[in-house]
Formats: sequence, structure tokens, C-alpha cells
Amino acid sequence: MQLPIGIDVASKHSRQTQIFEQIRTMIIEGRLRVGDSLPATRELSQQMGVSRNTTVIAYERLQAEGYIETRRSVGTFVCPSLPEASIRIQQLGPCQIAARAARPMDAGRRRFAFSGRAQRLINPHRDRLLADFWPGRPDAESFPAKAWSRHIWRRAASLGRGVTEYQDPAGLLDLRQAIADHLGPTRGIITDPACVVIVNGIQDGLNLVARLLVRPGDPVILEDPCYQGAHYVFDSIDAAIIPVPVDSAGIQSARLPDVCPAVAYVTPSHQYPLGCTLSLERRFELLAWAERTDSFVFEDDYDSDFRHVGSPLTALKGLDRTDRVIYAGTFSKSLGAGLRIGYLVLPKVLIEQARELKALTSNGQPWLEQAALADFMTEGDFERHLRRIRAVYKARRDQLIEALRTKLPEWEILGSEAGMHVVCRLPDAHPSSAADLSALALSQARVGLYDLETGGASSFGASEMFERCVILGYACVPEHKIVEGINAVASLTRDGALGPIEHPAETAT
Ligand SMILES: Cc1ncc(COP(=O)(O)O)c(C=O)c1O
Repeated sequence: MQLPIGIDVASKHSRQTQIFEQIRTMIIEGRLRVGDSLPATRELSQQMGVSRNTTVIAYERLQAEGYIETRRSVGTFVCPSLPEASIRIQQLGPCQIAARAARPMDAGRRRFAFSGRAQRLINPHRDRLLADFWPGRPDAESFPAKAWSRHIWRRAASLGRGVTEYQDPAGLLDLRQAIADHLGPTRGIITDPACVVIVNGIQDGLNLVARLLVRPGDPVILEDPCYQGAHYVFDSIDAAIIPVPVDSAGIQSARLPDVCPAVAYVTPSHQYPLGCTLSLERRFELLAWAERTDSFVFEDDYDSDFRHVGSPLTALKGLDRTDRVIYAGTFSKSLGAGLRIGYLVLPKVLIEQARELKALTSNGQPWLEQAALADFMTEGDFERHLRRIRAVYKARRDQLIEALRTKLPEWEILGSEAGMHVVCRLPDAHPSSAADLSALALSQARVGLYDLETGGASSFGASEMFERCVILGYACVPEHKIVEGINAVASLTRDGALGPIEHPAETAT
């Protein structure tokens, strides 16, 4: 069966994204129906003149998002139950969709102002896997449900104006105070609530800062490789992205270009994805660069609550004497991503404009969760919770390292001192790329093992690290599953299932 899809070589989207989007659209619009079979990846790659890897990744993403499923030795089919969002569209039926569809864009009357992509958030396979090492997810079992519901109920009993009135768009003062108090002892940041703005997670903070400081064409410095969520935000507003390579001591600050004014986005505590810590020397170099070029530095401190070896380095913001660092923290890793609560600590010059923008974009955050979180922090429940989960995550990290060293000793482990994931560099002699290995681990061992791209990272150069590394999140994988998962991946190697997937020359039409 041949699918009527094509590759636009001029598109800024990768080939795998184009294939993914076109097949997804065919499923959503009902041109491919539940149970229909899809061509094998090899057949599709030959049809389109792209590498097998490209079609494997596109299929993997369609599978991960719940559009297709692969039945071993039978083939690939449209899933019997499609993701919720597409079902809503499907219920209209193809004719109604056609009737309601907007007119072609080239009429010049309707053009999207937004053209962008987003990082993948939902992985419908998780419950079906033997072990899923998807990075960045905290352990759901460890959520402090009792203490949290006690605070929610107590505040809910006296809601009053908390819900009937708009609140300060910068966030609830009690929570901003609790965050400011927390950051002194834990991150070395001396600040006050006036500088703290509550956001809907770091992703929202990135958008706020991008809108506040970056016009199309403005230079934005990103780590290479870097967190996809940050890359896609700046890409979506047509910033001029300048990648600066990362090595084992973090972003190579000596290679920061003297452009101004710019924003540099960095992850100093636990570089995403590679996991290194920015050295003290480079922290000072980065701050000196910001001062010299009159730039701001966006410090994404997403998982710094977890340091497993040694004591944490003071946050960059804690060393910032010229007020140029925008610090971003989140409760997505310590409590849960579903809460959607994060915060920025802003340089003073940005506060008023940020508050205006916050009001303009959202009128502020929901009150009840902010109030409960403030109590949760001031009454010591947050510290207690952190102590408890630090021990859980450290035990899982230790188990993962032991399993890797025993079963896959030739894999080099990186970035294990902190956070919730490690990166493994495959040996040069390894027969397949990280993307191939991750596709095989999913289809043949039911293990979620991610290459850096499917694990939420972007790369800008021909970084061979990017091709050769897999990322393993361990915080939400119980120890016995860690062992089972690594054993299953190791036996793929033993059984000879691994081998190079053929890569015909990329001769896109
Ligand atoms: C490096 C990094 N920054 C930011 C985020 C997003 O955090 P939030 O849920 O607060 O938007 C993530 C999520 O995985 C991340 O890995």
C-alpha cells in the first residue's frame, strides 16, 4: 500500500516530522481508518527516498502518541482507540470536516501568525511497557496526597475573595514569599517576593521572557544540545538562534559571541540533556559576558532539588551581582507536572513589564493551588516531601547505575550526580544508532528507552553525541522494573537483535 504523502525539502520541519504530520492528518480526517494497515517502514522509506531511520522515528512518534500500533510479525495498524483530541474531530466525520474546513491559506485572508512545534508531553504507551525510562517524570506513587489534600481542603473551606476576585497577576503573595524563603538556604538566592512571578511552569516562563525580551531576528544563545521546549519557544518567534556547544563542564562560555543585547538560555545545575554541571569558572565567565554584552541569562533550574553526590553549587542567580539572571524554577519535578506551577525570579528592571504582560496573557494563576502550595511550603511539608523523595530517587539512580554497569558495561554513563535522568553514550562499536536502538527497545523489548531527540532535546550541529546517546529517566521507575528493563535491553544485544538499520541515501523528492 502506498500512502499519498510527500516531502517538502524547503520546509523547516524535519522529514520525520513531515511524515508524522501527514499520516496523523490522514488518520484524524478519516482517510486512514481504525484497523487500516500502514506500509512497513522499509517500504515507506523506499517510496519516499528517505532513510529507514526517518520513517522509523515518524512511526515511533505516531505510536507513542497513540495513533498507530505495531503487532509483532503482523504489521502496523491504525489504533482501535485513538487519542482523545483526534476522536473529537473524527466524530464530525470526514464530510462535515471538509464542509467546515477553513479555506486554503493562500487566499491571503487567513494566515496563522503562529508557526511552530512543541515538545512531546504525552506518552500513551507508558502503562503497556515493561519499563519506561521517559525522562523528567516524578514518581506518582510518592505524591504527598494526604498533606496536599489537607491544605487544599483547609483553603477551600475559606475561599471567599480568593476565588471571587482577580488576584495580583504576579501570583499569590503568600506563595511568592514562601518561594523567596525557600531559595535562600537551598539555592543561595537572596531575593524578595517582589521579584518572584508565579508562572504556569517553566514553559510559560520561557514564553513570558521570550515575549518580553526577544523580537524576530534578535540573537538568542542556546546550549548545543539543549532542551527542546526552550528551543521551540525561541524558534517560534523567529529569534536568531546561536548554538554554543556544551562539554563536560557545561556550556563553553569562552565561545559566547559578543552580540548584544541577547538572552542566553542555560541549565547550569544539570545540563539538559547531557547532565553535566556548569563549572564555577564558567559561571563567572557567563556572568561577565552578560554584563559585557548587556544581555540577560535565563537560568532553567528544573531539577536542582535532586543532587545525589556532593553539595549543590549555588545557583547562577545566587552569584549574579549585576542583576542579569532570570531564574526559573518549577514544582513539576518535585511534586508533579500536572500542577502547572513554576516561578521566575526576575531582575528588578523586568518586574513591572513582566507583571503587565502576565496580566495581558492570563490575568494570573488559579488561586486555590497557589494558596495550598504556600501552606504546604511554610508548614514544612515541602521539605519533608523533598527529603523523602530524594532518598527514593537516589536509590533508583543507584540501582540503574548498578544494572547498567553489570549488564551493559561498555555504555558510558553521564550526568548521574544530579537530577532524575542519566545519559548513556553507546560505544563506538555499537551496531546501531541511539534512534535505532530506542525503536528496537520499544518494539522488541517493550522498554521505553529514548534517544536525545525523542527524549526532548534539540541539537544544532552534527553532534555525534546526539547520534550516540540514549537518555534514561529513573525517578518514576521502581527498582525491580529498572532491573527488568535493563536486562531486556541487554538481551537485545546478546540475542543479536541489534544491527544497523539500513540507511539508503537521503534522496528526497
Ligand atoms: C530542562 C527542562 N526545563 C523545563 C521543563 C518544563 O518544566 P515545566 O513543567 O515547569 O514547564 C522541563 C520538563 O521536562 C525540562 O526538562
